[in-house]
Amino acid sequence: MCAAVYVLSTVTGYVLTSALLLKCPNLLHRRKRETFLSRHISHRGGAGENLENTMTAFKHAVDLGTDMLELDCHLTKDEQVVVSHDTNLQRVCGVEADISSMTYAELPPYLCKLGVTFQKECFCEGGEDKRIPLLRDVFDAFPNTPINIDIKVNNNTLIKKVSELVVKYDRENLTVWGNSSNQIVKKCYKENPQIPVLFSLPRVLQLLGLFYTGLLPFVPLKEQFLEIPMPSIITKLQDPSRLTRSQRFVAWLYCVSFQVYIWVLNDEEDFQRAFELGATGVMTDFPTMLKEFMDRNGISKAQ
Ligand SMILES: *[C@@H]1O[C@H](CO)[C@@H](O)[C@H](O)[C@H]1NC(C)=O
Ligand SMILES: *[C@@H]1O[C@H](CO)[C@@H](O)[C@H](O)[C@H]1NC(C)=O
Ligand SMILES: *[C@@H]1O[C@H](CO)[C@@H](O)[C@H](O)[C@H]1NC(C)=O
Repeated sequence: MCAAVYVLSTVTGYVLTSALLLKCPNLLHRRKRETFLSRHISHRGGAGENLENTMTAFKHAVDLGTDMLELDCHLTKDEQVVVSHDTNLQRVCGVEADISSMTYAELPPYLCKLGVTFQKECFCEGGEDKRIPLLRDVFDAFPNTPINIDIKVNNNTLIKKVSELVVKYDRENLTVWGNSSNQIVKKCYKENPQIPVLFSLPRVLQLLGLFYTGLLPFVPLKEQFLEIPMPSIITKLQDPSRLTRSQRFVAWLYCVSFQVYIWVLNDEEDFQRAFELGATGVMTDFPTMLKEFMDRNGISKAQ
């Protein structure tokens, strides 16, 4: 009897504390360093409107007023950091070779027409610009635009070089980097803890586990940015009983200054759901469509 009361009161205490901390996270967590806030994020520069990861795509998105560019990095044989998605050049250039096997000067141009990965049966026809850019070119051209950098290979030199460029261009406050692999994210954080990191996939799952067991409010977290892939969390929203929990989860993250981005959304229905869920921002291949949607719905741009 006595033991039962003890267990019951302990459990009740735990549940109440957890609930309280979930409501008021700042009791235990210091607010994370304020950084940029992005609502409108152009995936690979807007892969549905221009050839992905080209200067033309980035320029189009920035001219449109995007809050953030998302891009991917690789290292060439001569150790240049280039902006491109795939390890192998077959899909984008029609050449069966890895980026790491060629010098920057040897890299072939993109094909005229590329499939849009997150949009079924959709191809994007490009214009003149078919060049794989250097990360440095992007930093030179857009010194004030926040950039989300996906580190595509687990290569220490790549991580080091990206960090050096970020520091050189004074962009530590305008950058978030990472990968779905936690190994890479750990290396990034170790290389330069001043640059905010993304949650890797294992860490997202861990985060969800902590949330559902009520442990989340007690655990310190180094990450600042959470990117939730489509469609898993969105489809959960169909079920209203889950909605409140998801919303509370996102609200809690938001409260401790995590930024929650949902990717990659390419139609208005999904934009709507994401913003209703409380997402900080939406990543899209169609920046013009997202901008028109936000304008029409009075969703303000980031401050
Ligand atoms: C990292 O990339 C460079 C250039 O492509 C290469 O020489 C080096 O072997 C790579 N390192 C690892 C550990 O893969
Ligand atoms: C980044 O922002 C922090 C906090 O606002 C500031 O202390 C720091 O100097 C900034 N760093 C750079 C490189 O601008
Ligand atoms: C993470 O890195 C792996 C290689 O280690 C790569 O295959 C994968 O595409 C990367 N994922 C993202 C989201 O950048």
